[in-house]
Amino acid sequence: MSEVHLTDVKTLRQRAREHVENGAVTEGYQADRKTVLRLLNESLATELVCTLRYKRHYYMATGLKASIAAEEFLEHAQQEEAHADRLAERIVQLGGEPNFDPKGLEDRSHAQYVAGNTLKEMVYEDLVAERIAIDSYREIIQYLGDTDPTTRRIFEDILAQEEEHADDMADILADLS
Ligand SMILES: [Fe+2]
Ligand SMILES: [Fe+2]
Repeated sequence: MSEVHLTDVKTLRQRAREHVENGAVTEGYQADRKTVLRLLNESLATELVCTLRYKRHYYMATGLKASIAAEEFLEHAQQEEAHADRLAERIVQLGGEPNFDPKGLEDRSHAQYVAGNTLKEMVYEDLVAERIAIDSYREIIQYLGDTDPTTRRIFEDILAQEEEHADDMADILADLS
């Protein structure tokens, strides 16, 4: 077990008054803020690419057999967008700027945008993208450790939902095969 040093009240109060312009980022912030902001922006790009890909798949999934998949595509698109919002909000809290520039979006993202021609191809590509997101978010969580619990919790929440998404896509893929 690591020794946790508890700061006395006088020091806590004094420290909080220094650099108030940094808002939520206090003297005690233990993570490397620059790296955390980069990871958050890469993840934001990933979520935006996933939102766009699921939207495309939702509108392209037509026909009776595609209706269940289409419902999932739409739900996932909305949840990826909500993930993007949470990440953007955290970037601002940490004194950064969320990058929504469409230029270079796919390069900044971990997951890819694959349009897909058939329903099976779409579901397959969505599953691959989810698996990329799962691995990258798990690594980020491990990297953060105890240095930034708020950012870590955000990634933990998102990771849990990406695992649900992957499971949904795997089920549909199995049905289509
Ligand atoms: Fe997501
Ligand atoms: Fe997802």
